[in-house]
Amino acid sequence: MSASQSAARRTVLKGAAAIAGAVGGGAALTACSTETNSGSGAPAVPAQPVELGAAAEVPVGGAKLFREKKLVVSCAEAGQYKAFSAQCTHAGCVLDKIVEGEGNCPCHGSRFDVTTGQAVRGPATEPLPEVPVKVEGGKLIAG
Ligand code: FES
Repeated sequence: MSASQSAARRTVLKGAAAIAGAVGGGAALTACSTETNSGSGAPAVPAQPVELGAAAEVPVGGAKLFREKKLVVSCAEAGQYKAFSAQCTHAGCVLDKIVEGEGNCPCHGSRFDVTTGQAVRGPATEPLPEVPVKVEGGKLIAG
C-alpha cells in the first residue's frame, strides 16, 4: 500500500505545485472536496488536521520543515510550538530549508522568520499564514 500511496502523493504534489503556480488553486479545488484526502491539492493552509509526526523532532529553539505538507513548525521553548504555511507568499513556491532560523524560498530568495512567519527578505512582503498546531500523544497535529 505504501508504494502506491507515495506514488500517488508525488503525482498530487506535482499537480498541486502546478496549480499553485498558476492561480493559487483554492476556488477550483473546493468543487471536488469530497474526493480529496488531506494534503491533496491543499491550499497554503490545511483545511483539515494534518499529523506531522513526533513533536520531539522539532528541536527546542529551532524549527522543522515539512515540505510534503507545506508546513513549517518552530519551537521557541519546550512545548511551545508554532506552525506556519511553508508556501512562499511571493509566488507560491514551497520553502526548501531553514537557515539560521529563517525559512528559505528557493525560487527568488525570500526569507521568513519561522517563529513569527514574517517576511525578513523579499521579494515576499506578506507573512506566512499561521496554522494552529497542538500536541496529542506526543504527535504534532496542525490545522
Ligand atoms: S516564490 Fe518565494 S521568493 Fe518568489
